[in-house]
Amino acid sequence: MVSSTFVAVLFGVLPLALAAHYDTGNATSAYYPSATNSPSPVQTVSVGKGGLIFTPDTIVAKVGEEITFQFFPKNHSVVQADFNNPCNPAAGLGSIFSGFIPSATPGPSNQTFTITVKDDKPIWLYCAALLPKPHCSAGMVAVINPPKEGPNSLDAFRLLAAKTNTSTAPATPRGDVETTTPSPSATNTGGPILSTGAASSLVVGGGAIGGLMVVFAGLLL
Ligand SMILES: *[C@@H]1O[C@H](CO)[C@@H](O)[C@H](O)[C@H]1NC(C)=O
Ligand SMILES: *[C@@H]1O[C@H](CO)[C@@H](O)[C@H](O)[C@H]1NC(C)=O
Ligand SMILES: *[C@@H]1O[C@H](CO)[C@@H](O)[C@H](O)[C@H]1NC(C)=O
Ligand SMILES: *[C@@H]1O[C@H](CO)[C@@H](O)[C@H](O)[C@H]1NC(C)=O
Repeated sequence: MVSSTFVAVLFGVLPLALAAHYDTGNATSAYYPSATNSPSPVQTVSVGKGGLIFTPDTIVAKVGEEITFQFFPKNHSVVQADFNNPCNPAAGLGSIFSGFIPSATPGPSNQTFTITVKDDKPIWLYCAALLPKPHCSAGMVAVINPPKEGPNSLDAFRLLAAKTNTSTAPATPRGDVETTTPSPSATNTGGPILSTGAASSLVVGGGAIGGLMVVFAGLLL
């Protein structure tokens, strides 16, 4: 039989233990983690799940919202293009490139790529992988915040992509990256950082914001 004293102690300690477990360092948000630790929703986009497609391929996101890309076999990337040049990197240092993320196992890769939407301009995306055929010309394109009207639709972008033979990617994951976490030494100008810690949020200058993180599902818990 469990003593009532033990039960009383257990229930007395439990809230403190839970609070400690979820304490993010912000005392005002420590107690109800699911309600207050997510200031903006994170949308998830599958890259290469069940074919050469982004799912969904049309994403509507408010400024400040995060979009996380999950990578499926065998080898994919997320690259930003200009509308008129579908399968090549967009001009500008800050354009998005996740790097190539191979995945051998059937599920999503343990690497994800997260961007934060910085403005409401359309962001045209493609996959620059080439095998067994160029993914971009095969239709593996997507758009964040497409124009509400006019000729620049995702269908039009995909038609332009289908007319190309190949695609290119930047040499390295790129962007002027600065971290939004408190550590100033983490500032990096090369590209998204492979982080082995908790979710990091990296800001890419000049039109896109990106971060690359390794997710240790299960290991952290
Ligand atoms: C701490 O919580 C307050 C109130 O919810 C919020 O406004 C603030 O942005 C939080 N700070 C951090 C660093 O999460
Ligand atoms: C991530 O996945 C790759 C291949 O699937 C594996 O080799 C690697 O050990 C994994 N990394 C972690 C940290 O789980
Ligand atoms: C992924 O695809 C890119 C472009 O086709 C290629 O350069 C890279 O080597 C591939 N990575 C793997 C692991 O197959
Ligand atoms: C595709 O490649 C072939 C052979 O290299 C070339 O003749 C043709 O002009 C290319 N088409 C386009 C649209 O680039």
